Amino acid sequence: MLEILSKIKKISTAFESDKRNVSNADEFEVLKNTFIGRKGLVASLFKELSSIPVDKKREIGADINNLKSSIEQSLKKMDFKKDQGINRDIDFTLPGTPYTSGRLHPLTIVTNEIKEIFNRIGFSPVFGPEVDTDYYNFEALNIPKDHPARDMQDTFYINSELLLRTHTSSTQIHYMENNQPPLRIISPGRVYRNEDISVKSYCLFHQIEGLYVDQNVSFADLKSTLNYFAKTMFGNDVKVRFRPSFFPFTEPSAEMDIYWGLETEADHRVTKGTGWLEILGCGMVDPNVFKSVGFDTKKWKGFAFGMGIERIAMIKYGISDIRKFYEGNIKFLEQFKI
Ligand code: DAH
Repeated sequence: MLEILSKIKKISTAFESDKRNVSNADEFEVLKNTFIGRKGLVASLFKELSSIPVDKKREIGADINNLKSSIEQSLKKMDFKKDQGINRDIDFTLPGTPYTSGRLHPLTIVTNEIKEIFNRIGFSPVFGPEVDTDYYNFEALNIPKDHPARDMQDTFYINSELLLRTHTSSTQIHYMENNQPPLRIISPGRVYRNEDISVKSYCLFHQIEGLYVDQNVSFADLKSTLNYFAKTMFGNDVKVRFRPSFFPFTEPSAEMDIYWGLETEADHRVTKGTGWLEILGCGMVDPNVFKSVGFDTKKWKGFAFGMGIERIAMIKYGISDIRKFYEGNIKFLEQFKI
C-alpha cells in the first residue's frame, strides 16, 4: 500500500520536471500521453488500485484522481496545440535582433540614375575595356604620341602599348568602329590615373561617356541635353555654367560646372574657393576623330561628353571628400538608400 503512495508522488514530481523541457506541440503530445494517456502512468495507477484493500481504496483512489486533475490543469495552461508551438517563455516586449541587409554603393546608385536619365532621351548603354591600347585611349582621339595633352592624364602603362584607360572616351572609338551613325550612346566605367590623391582626386574613379552622332547636330543640342541632365539630376533650381575649355577630341570644347556653395571651409577646399565644381568635359566631336573611324566628316556631326560620377555623387549627397567612396566604411555606406 505504501508503495502505491510513493509511486503517486514520484509520478507527480516526474511530471513537474518533464513539463519544463517541453518547448513545442510535438513534445507536448508526448508529455500528455506519457502521463494521462490511455496507457499512461496515471492509468497504470488506476489499474493497481484494484489490488488495494477495500478500506484504503477510497482514500488512494482520491489521491490518484487529484494527481490526474492537477496534471490536466497544468497541461491546460501549457496548451501548445492552440498556440501552434509558441513558447510562452519568450518575452515579446524585448527589442528584436537587427539583421543587416546589403545596399547598393552610392556610386552604383548614381550611375543607375544617370543611365536612366539618358535612357529616357534615347541613349543606350555600351561598355569598353579597362585595359586598352595607346591607340584607343589617345591616338584615335586625336592625341598623338608627343601631344602635350597627354600630360593632363598621368597614365598607368602596362607596357609600351597597353595601358589602363585614363578616360571612357576610348569607348567612343570602339563603338564607332563597329556601328554606323546615327548613334546615341552612353558608356559608364572605371578609369585610372596616376595622380596625387586628395579630397578631389583618386588613382581610380568612374566616368560616364556620352556620344551623339547625326546630321545637323549643333552645340545648342549639346547644351540643351546637358541642361536637361543637370535639372533632372539635381532639381530645377540647379545652377549650371559652361566654360570654354580644350580637349583634342572636340572642337569647340567646354566644361560644365555645378554650383556647390561657398560657406564652409570644406566648400572652399572642394571648389578651390570658387563655389563651383566641374563635373564634365564636352564638345563637338573633332573631325579628326571621325576620320580615324572612317565616318564622312561632311555628312556627320556629333557631340560628346565625359562626366565624373564621383563628383556628381559628391554634389548629390553633399560629400566633401572623394576618398570616402573607396574606404568601405559600413557607417558611411549604410546611409545610402535607393
Ligand atoms: N575624357 C575627358 C576627361 O577625362 C572628358 C571629356 C571631355 C570627354 C570632352 C568627352 C569630351 O567626350 O567630349 O577629362
